[in-house]
Amino acid sequence: MALAPAFLEELRARTPLPGLIGRRVRLLRSGRQWRGNCPFHGEKTPSFYVYDDHYHCFGCGAHGDAISYVMQAEGQSFIEAVKSLAAEAGLAVPEEGPEAAAAARAAQDLFAVLERAGESFQRRLLLPEGAEARAYLTARGVTAETSRRFGLGYAPGRGALTADLARDGITPAQMIAAGLLRADEDGRAGREFFALRLIFPIRDRRGRIVSFGGRRLDDRESAAPKYLNGPETEIFAKRHTLYNLDRAAPAIRAGAEALVVEGYMDVIALDQAGFAGALAPLGTALGTEHLETLWRAAPVPLLCFDGDAAGARAALRAIMLALPLITPERSLEIVPLPPGEDPDTLIRRAGSAGFRDQALARRQTLMTALYALARGQFPATTPESRTAFLDALMAAADRIGHRALAAEYRRALRDRYYEEFRRPRGIPGRRAGPLPPPAPRLRPAPRPGDQARERVLLATLLHHPALALEVEEALLTLVLPPPLARLRAALLDAVHAAVMADGERGGDGQNSSPPLDSARLIDHLAEIGLGEAVGEARRAAPAFAAPGAPLAEVREGWWHFFGFSHRERLDEELAAATREFAASPSPRAERRLLALREAQNRLNAGEALPAENGGAGEE
Ligand code: UTP
Ligand code: MN
Repeated sequence: MALAPAFLEELRARTPLPGLIGRRVRLLRSGRQWRGNCPFHGEKTPSFYVYDDHYHCFGCGAHGDAISYVMQAEGQSFIEAVKSLAAEAGLAVPEEGPEAAAAARAAQDLFAVLERAGESFQRRLLLPEGAEARAYLTARGVTAETSRRFGLGYAPGRGALTADLARDGITPAQMIAAGLLRADEDGRAGREFFALRLIFPIRDRRGRIVSFGGRRLDDRESAAPKYLNGPETEIFAKRHTLYNLDRAAPAIRAGAEALVVEGYMDVIALDQAGFAGALAPLGTALGTEHLETLWRAAPVPLLCFDGDAAGARAALRAIMLALPLITPERSLEIVPLPPGEDPDTLIRRAGSAGFRDQALARRQTLMTALYALARGQFPATTPESRTAFLDALMAAADRIGHRALAAEYRRALRDRYYEEFRRPRGIPGRRAGPLPPPAPRLRPAPRPGDQARERVLLATLLHHPALALEVEEALLTLVLPPPLARLRAALLDAVHAAVMADGERGGDGQNSSPPLDSARLIDHLAEIGLGEAVGEARRAAPAFAAPGAPLAEVREGWWHFFGFSHRERLDEELAAATREFAASPSPRAERRLLALREAQNRLNAGEALPAENGGAGEE
C-alpha cells in the first residue's frame, strides 16, 4: 500500500501524540515532554516518554510515531491505523490503487531529481562560471565553510542544469514536476527556472531538498525580483516550510534558541555567528502552519522583527495569528531589532555580541509585546481613545483559545493598563498614597429573590475551595448584592493566595490535597469580618456540596446550578473547554469538560435543580 508521503506527513502533524497516547496512559508532563508507564511492557516506574511527534520507552525500547503507536497498541495493520487516525483528524485517505502508488513513486523521484540538481548547482559554484557568485558571498561575509554547510550553489541557466541532469537520465518532464523548468502554455518544457542566481537549497524537516531559492547577484534597479523561490510542487508547500528546519531543529533540542527571521541570508549569518536555531519562512508571511511546525521544534520560539512601523505591523499580525493557538506550554516571544537592521546587517556591524545585546537581550514576552504594539495604535490621550485601547486589549485576550490562559491575559493586560493610566504620575519615586475607597460601580441592581442560586454557588465553593479557580470566571459574572460580592472577592483572594503559597513551597499543583481546606477558609473569612455573609451563604448549601462529597459531583452540581440561570455562559464555557481539551488534553481539562457536558445534559433533559437546601450548611 503506497500513500503519498505528503499525506502521511500531514496526518502525523495533525495527530499530537500526547493527546492520542494520553487516552490510555496516564501521562505527566516532564519538562518539554510527557512521561508515563509504558503501555508495551509492565512497569511501575515510568520510563515511557512521549514527544510531539514520537514516543520512546527507555525500558523496553518501544519507539515510533502516531501510526506505529496505533499499530502496536491496538494491533492494527498499517492501513487500518492510518484510516482510523485520518478519520479522527478529519483527513480523507487518498484513494488506494495504482495512481496513488504512482504518485508516491513520483514523489520519491522528485526528491532524487532535486538532490541531483543541488549537486549540479553546488559544483558549478566552484567552477570558473561561479566566480561572481563566490565573490558575492565573500563580499557578504559568508565563508566557504558556511557555504558548504548550507549547500549553496550557482545556477548559470541557459541549459546548464538540463544538460547536467540529462546525464543522469532525468527528463525535462521530471524537471517541470520538480519546479526546475518553466512549462510553456502547452505544458512543454521552457526555460530553466533559475538563471544567473546564487542558489539556496530548501530542505524539509528530514533534510531532503524540496525546492530552491535563488538570489540575483546585484542590487541594481531591475524588473527581476531579488529572490525567486521555486514553485509549489507535489513536495513543496511554502505555507508550512521553514528554511533551515532540518539543521535548526536538532540544534534547538540541544539548547539553541529557535529564532525566526525574515530571509535566507539572515539564517545563514546567524548560523555562522553561532546561532544555530535560525529559521525563516520563504517569501511569505508567517502562517498558522508555520507556527505549528515551529512549536514542534520549540515551545517558545523567538520571532525577530524590524524595529520600524512595518516590523511592528508584521509582529502584531503574527501575534494575532498565534493567540488562538497558544497554551501554557507553547507560546512566542518577540525580539525587536534596531530600526533599519535585519539580523544579517546587525551581525555584520556588531558581531554576535551585538546581536545578543541589541536584539536578544530585548526580547519581550508575548504579553508585553502585545501590549506595546497595541498601545502604538492608540493615542490614548482621551477617555474614548483609552477605552478603545482597553477594548482592543480585551478583544485580543479573547482570541486566546485556552480558557484559563485567556483569563490570565485579561487580568494581566488590564493590570498593565491601569498601571499606565491610573497611577498618579509626576514625582518619580514617590509612592502613591492609599487608594481612595472604590467608587460605586454602575451595574444592574440585583433582582430580589434571585439570590438563592447565587448563595448555593458560593456555599458550594466555601465547602470545596479547590473548585473556586476552575469556575472563577463564571463566578465573576454573577451579579451579587454587596455582602455576597465582598464574600466572593475575599474567597477568591484567599484561594489565590493559597495557590501561590503552595507554588512557592514547591507544590506542583498536581497533588490531590487542595492547598486550602474549607474549615480554614471559613475561619479566615470570619476573621476578616465576613462571618455573617458566610453564614447567609452556608444556609443555602446544597446536599451535593456536603463536605466530603466527591469533587466530580460537586463540580457537576455547580455548573448545573450556574447554567440554570446563565445558560449562554455555560454553553460558552463548554465550547472553550472543548477547545482547551483539544489543544492540551490534561486530566484537568478533561475533568472540566466532562463536568460541563454533564451539566449541559442535565439542563437539556430539563432535570430539576437539586433541593436548594440540603441542610449541609448546618453542623
Ligand atoms: P528581503 O528583501 O527583506 O531582504 O527578503 P533580505 O533578506 O535582507 O535580503 P538580502 O539581505 O538583501 O539578501 C527577505 C526574504 O523575503 C523573500 C526571500 O525569502 C528573502 O530571503 N523574498 C524577498 C522573496 O521571496 N522575493 C523577493 O523579491 C524578495
Ligand atoms: Mn538582508
